[in-house]
Amino acid sequence: MTREECAALDAADPLAGFRREFALPEGVVYLDGNSLGALPAGTPERVRRVVEQEWGRELIRSWNDAGWFEQPYRLGRRIAPLVGAEPDEVVVCDTTSVNLFKVLAAALRLRPGRRTVLGDGAAFPTDLYIAEGVTGLVEGARSVLVAPEELDRHLDGEVAAVVLSHVDYRTGELLDLPGITARVRAAGALMIWDVCHSVGALPVELGAGGADFAVGCTYKYLNGGPGSPAFLYVARRHQAAAAQPLSGWFGHARPFAFEPGYDARAGIGRFLTSSPSLLGQAALEASLDVWERADLGAVRAKSLALTDPFVALVEGLDGIEVATPREHARRGSQIALRHADGYPVVQALIARGVIGDFRAPDLMRFGFTPLYLTYTDVWDAARHLAGVLESGEWRQERFGRRGEVT
Ligand SMILES: Cc1ncc(COP(=O)(O)O)c(C=O)c1O
Repeated sequence: MTREECAALDAADPLAGFRREFALPEGVVYLDGNSLGALPAGTPERVRRVVEQEWGRELIRSWNDAGWFEQPYRLGRRIAPLVGAEPDEVVVCDTTSVNLFKVLAAALRLRPGRRTVLGDGAAFPTDLYIAEGVTGLVEGARSVLVAPEELDRHLDGEVAAVVLSHVDYRTGELLDLPGITARVRAAGALMIWDVCHSVGALPVELGAGGADFAVGCTYKYLNGGPGSPAFLYVARRHQAAAAQPLSGWFGHARPFAFEPGYDARAGIGRFLTSSPSLLGQAALEASLDVWERADLGAVRAKSLALTDPFVALVEGLDGIEVATPREHARRGSQIALRHADGYPVVQALIARGVIGDFRAPDLMRFGFTPLYLTYTDVWDAARHLAGVLESGEWRQERFGRRGEVT
């Protein structure tokens, strides 16, 4: 593909107008929206309004008048269509790790005769750490790590729950959510999906796919901002019986009755624990204003149309191996490339204005966010990668120095 052909695709792109809704710096090709999404243009104003007006002027009255108390539910209702859920099945609160703790503990309680939690040994480690933490609290429980392709062999009568990432954070591989969920449920276990790398990247069908629980973050493809609040999903069929252990006052049926005993709220609200972080939620609200108008089918189609030429342009470059599956049905919205010196190569690319990231030991990750990337960006990024490799500029000493965050 030529740069001119890319420009023609940009001119015909039905999502092209969304780029104006993001405040991207000049001269940057941002391929790290799978880690931290770009800033929506409307976010600063929304956050300023909440700070100056709702907090600064209205003060405590905003809990009722500005709907602060309702905010976790309101945002949950807006995220629900992005993950194929009903409006009362999603709530926004806490972090992905904390939410996983809550839903995994609830799942174990829903399967009292079973004590095993299965997870993918290559999953984002926080999921594994949380599984260790939860099983460590339950007599006889254990967390067992398996490769997703070997899951079926381990689905015995001991398994209470399975935790998997819909899209692998390293390779970008997309798992078969409905198929795996059906097999896990047929074995009598509960299925918990981590959708951090699929929400906003492709249509996610938690309801139609039969998922029992899910957790996800909002700072990647959803552009909620650094450390923005996460969300959790609980299928309606479990809500009445599910009990989570972080039984704080926001999950109480009558938080302002200040009763000494805990009485869980009806519905998804029982999964809340604490006061919502309203400044973070305000930023998320602004990004959902953008997402509300985005057609997920068009997002997915463009994601694939961006990643296919990127792979074609970079495969065959010196020392590069494509780690992401080629089949559309098996990949999310990022392309991972292996290179023995991936870290300095990514740093050299960043110095040229092409921002990706690196995951040890050798993976360079490039996330493709169809709302603010162009086909020309993809072409330019691939050319810069070729330039960095051909020139050997990545060998400069400054590109080898590692920061705390890679
Ligand atoms: C798949 C996955 N799960 C969980 C997390 C961590 O989420 P949090 O920091 O919100 O607990 C991440 C962070 O990148 C992730 O990629």
